[in-house]
Amino acid sequence: MVYWVFGYGSLIFKPPPHAVEQKSGYVKGVVRRFAQSSIDHRGTPEAPGRVVTVIDAREWHHLEGNDIPEGTILPEDFVWGVAYRIDQEHEEEVRAYMEHREKNGYTCHFVPVYSTSPDGEEEVKVVESAEIWIGKLDNPAFIGHEPIHELAKTISERRGPSGLNKDYLYKLADSVRHLYPHVRDDYLFQLEAAVKALDSRDWP
Ligand code: BEZ
Repeated sequence: MVYWVFGYGSLIFKPPPHAVEQKSGYVKGVVRRFAQSSIDHRGTPEAPGRVVTVIDAREWHHLEGNDIPEGTILPEDFVWGVAYRIDQEHEEEVRAYMEHREKNGYTCHFVPVYSTSPDGEEEVKVVESAEIWIGKLDNPAFIGHEPIHELAKTISERRGPSGLNKDYLYKLADSVRHLYPHVRDDYLFQLEAAVKALDSRDWP
């Protein structure tokens, strides 16, 4: 079987090894949130950072404390990212790489990936089944909802072996802006603005 991996976080700007083809597209019924604690990437065990995870929208909305009942999927519940086809010769190696990278914080699922026709009128399925790593509420690293000012403060202050937490957010927001200029992602861009506001306040 052909092996596709769907990237929605750092995989958007740092593809997995042995990717031989890529297709932009979206996954339906999910939200992308900075709801995952990071102790070995953009934070430390003493001062964890925050990285993105994709969560089933039916599980997420009521966690935000609004009036949306559990089980609801809203029209805007889809996440754009990049599906990568992995060289068949290296499939086992990349499966092991993904499993090692994500096993503590995410669980593996398979989903179809969609895009829009060139005229923007129609939805087309671009990948039948891609591997996606999803945050489940019972994953040890799952943080859940945090108010934006709290989340922005954490991201603005934390750093880990892979660098500053805020640089991860800025890179993701920049990539989404450039790759998908037609996509509205209020959550991502509001968080970016909130962290930038703290950043400029702290400068010099
Ligand atoms: C990603 O960067 O796309 C990604 C994030 C978490 C788990 C798997 C992939």
